[in-house]
Amino acid sequence: MSGAKNAALPILCAALLADGEHRFRNVPALRDVATMGALLETMGLSVAQDGSVLDITSRPVNEPVAPYELVKKMRASVLVLGPLVARYGEATVSLPGGCAIGARPIDQHLKGLEAMGAKVDLDHGYVHVKVPRGRLTGAEVVLDMPTVTGTENLMSAAVLAEGRTTLVNAAREPEIEELARVLNKMGANVTGAGTDVIVIEGREGLEPVDHAIMADRIEAGTYMVAAAATKGNVFLDGVTFDHLEAVAAKMRQAGCAVEREGEGVRVAAEGDLRAVNIKTAPHPGFPTDMQAQLMVLMAMAKGQSVIEETIFENRFMHVPELNRMGADISVHGRTATVKGVDSLQGAQVMATDLRASASLVIAGLLAQGETEVLRVYHIDRGYEHIEEKLAGLGAHIERVPGASA
Ligand code: EPU
Repeated sequence: MSGAKNAALPILCAALLADGEHRFRNVPALRDVATMGALLETMGLSVAQDGSVLDITSRPVNEPVAPYELVKKMRASVLVLGPLVARYGEATVSLPGGCAIGARPIDQHLKGLEAMGAKVDLDHGYVHVKVPRGRLTGAEVVLDMPTVTGTENLMSAAVLAEGRTTLVNAAREPEIEELARVLNKMGANVTGAGTDVIVIEGREGLEPVDHAIMADRIEAGTYMVAAAATKGNVFLDGVTFDHLEAVAAKMRQAGCAVEREGEGVRVAAEGDLRAVNIKTAPHPGFPTDMQAQLMVLMAMAKGQSVIEETIFENRFMHVPELNRMGADISVHGRTATVKGVDSLQGAQVMATDLRASASLVIAGLLAQGETEVLRVYHIDRGYEHIEEKLAGLGAHIERVPGASA
């Protein structure tokens, strides 16, 4: 398994916090990582990726600005906000706006920075954040919901603030713990990451870091489902099983064998799978980033399952595409009802977002005949070498250059 995209993105932004030579290992070669690298380069940092090693030379930025052209490509660009405000006392970041899976505001990120002494103005689609006294001040911030990138932004801001910051109702995702590990290696004092209360004692300055990024739990979960859906028996190497408890529990309930094996996980399935109900929730609940993939498993299970999406309001765009392949899924608001069918048929389908595109690839693997997934660039945002990895397991899959309109 590759390094985790959603851990790498905030960690690369942390390089803004300390000048000097940073080295990040086990970094996946993905479109989103390249976009983040380009954003850091526009600010004057040097970024070079060679395979899974990514070096950043950090120096004072020319302008603490994240322009619309990059933020519109990737919402996670907003992760530069916390480090920039902490280090330079100001930042200007294009508002990300809505995206295919929902409205996704950043009000909680801004609320936290305001509590720490920043002034926030909106102007022509940009948010300007300025700290009148120059340096942020530690504060207690109670988040309305456990936002992942919001927690990361506020953690990365608080490490250089004066005094103690307490984040209450913080997100508990493993990527937050990983960011805390990196910040602490840089000399920060972050405790409680992985729980819903994170305490940060601010420091005057931090040091550059050398760090190997943890494995991608969503990539692993996706291959776990692909293995089970195709009735395979697959060992995934380099998986932190503890990060996948909720996914493993649902797959077992559906009748799959999922076992921790050394540094990885083995997944096997044979015969009919059972329908199970799924409700997405913040970690350690069932991840929204695995909802589309599990839906494919349910599309061919025995019986009817109900899948409820509680995190994003518009994350069922894979449903019409799966139905074109012969699935029987109906959506009412945030709930999808999936009636298992005996088989799916290959078809031309359109990828709409990263995880939806992964679900269409899995559907293509188990459908009869050929499936053509269009707009495959969505997959390249988050799945490193997906066609090589699947072909290595016996899948017939190829990238057709120029066909993905
Ligand atoms: N929200 C607000 N206000 C805020 C922040 C969030 O209302 O200020 C809402 C969102 O609209 C959403 C909920 O809170 O309804 C949770 O969103 P969150 O902020 O946690 O999502 P995110 O940080 O923007 C990260 C991942 C997503 C993943 C979600 C949920 C990164 C770079 N992105 O997004 O990953 O789905 O957490 O786990 O870490 C993906 O990799 O495909 C992906 C979309």
